[in-house]
Amino acid sequence: MTEATKRSATISVDGKTVDLPIYDGTVGPSVIDVRKLYAETGHFTYDPGFTSTASCDSIITYIDGDKGELLYRGYPIDQLADDSHYLEVCYLLLYGELPSAAQLEDFEFRVTNHTMLHEQMTNFYRGFRRDAHPMAIMCGVVGALSAFYHDSTDITDLEQREIASVRMVAKMPTIAAWAYKYSIGQPFVYPRNDLDYAANFMHMCFSTPCEKYEVDPIMARAMDRIMTLHADHEQNASTSTVRLAGSSNANPFACIAAGVACLWGPAHGGANEACLAMLKEIGTVDRIPEFIERAKDKDDPFRLMGFGHRVYKNYDPRAKVMQETAKEVLELVGVTNSPILQVAQELERISLEDQYFIDRKLYPNVDFYSGIVLSAMGFPTSMFTAIFAMSRTVGWIAQWKEMVEDPQQRIGRPRQLYSGAGSRDYIDLNKR
Ligand code: CMC
Repeated sequence: MTEATKRSATISVDGKTVDLPIYDGTVGPSVIDVRKLYAETGHFTYDPGFTSTASCDSIITYIDGDKGELLYRGYPIDQLADDSHYLEVCYLLLYGELPSAAQLEDFEFRVTNHTMLHEQMTNFYRGFRRDAHPMAIMCGVVGALSAFYHDSTDITDLEQREIASVRMVAKMPTIAAWAYKYSIGQPFVYPRNDLDYAANFMHMCFSTPCEKYEVDPIMARAMDRIMTLHADHEQNASTSTVRLAGSSNANPFACIAAGVACLWGPAHGGANEACLAMLKEIGTVDRIPEFIERAKDKDDPFRLMGFGHRVYKNYDPRAKVMQETAKEVLELVGVTNSPILQVAQELERISLEDQYFIDRKLYPNVDFYSGIVLSAMGFPTSMFTAIFAMSRTVGWIAQWKEMVEDPQQRIGRPRQLYSGAGSRDYIDLNKR
């Protein structure tokens, strides 16, 4: 844990004064340590949605929401997206430093040698309905990994933790691609270890036994960038879910399955799917004002998908990179002026000038353009969140490992403000 500073916060409750230590991070807000508050005052802190609560001390990822900055282990996301590649970023997130050439080669070898799934898992897939959503299949299959890989579920064993980590990074593309293949009724395509990580994923999604499929390098690079942009994002809902699940010492596969489930929601990873559906629903530029009005109407639950973020109160730095990638991919497929793209660009322009969005600091987030890119690459909307889950797996694992190895770690157990009925006697059914 970071050392306490000389400063402290003083809180006075019912006449009792308590001094609470303050810790400084490297950058970003300092924290007030409230762990002794309940013991000393009998009061809890109240923070639904954890808007003011740091749940852990982490050295992995940093976001400055006001500046619109995202750093993995100190390195800015735009530099990593431009100059690095996904597996190198995975190494960085998992081990803390950029690898040497030999370390990278070894890591790529280890990942590449774990890309296949246990053959019996093909039977497991066949238990799902044919029209199952790929995320529904992923929740089940990722959780089921602990039934197939018993030799890497002992979280007290460093080597088993390491094998589980590499297995998860290696197998997620196969799991996601097979969820897709199953949902469209095509045979599973096995991984090809001569391809790089992103190209192999596209091969498993788009090739069939009857036709040769060449992965376009621009597409593979776009896929790699999408993965890099989504690799980690500090203590977001799904990562916090993984940490909370892991705090009970559950095995890593079960923890990552919990993260997949949480990511599925439209307020989180499901937003890219919801965003493209919204752009299609808007359809034409002239209908934008109607949807902007709906987004502002407090009586209408509609929100502009792909806008707003709990932490970013500035342009999401991932959205900038994604916008560039969108241009490259759309040029490649020859769709530079599709109605959806026109709606997206105009929606972005109008919302950035609209007082409602300015006042609330609502900017496009990563999901605003990712759906357009993935769609142009040939993925159906139902695969968008599955691709996000695949890309985020490394972040979940890095955060899970950090938690397991943290001596401060205790089971996560939030408390509550109870406002229900007080103790009362049970009433027999015939007397109610
Ligand atoms: N459209 C219209 N109004 C919005 C939107 C939006 N997309 N997002 C927030 N607001 C308004 C909200 O109504 C509230 O207004 P008021 O103060 O007048 O009541 C204000 O902005 C603050 O909103 P909030 O709900 O308190 O903000 P939050 O931090 O709890 O929610 C969010 C963050 C991402 C859930 C939300 O902005 C949202 O629902 N966005 C759309 C879904 C989306 O794009 N999610 C992807 C997030 S990025 C990918 C990821 O990290 O998972």
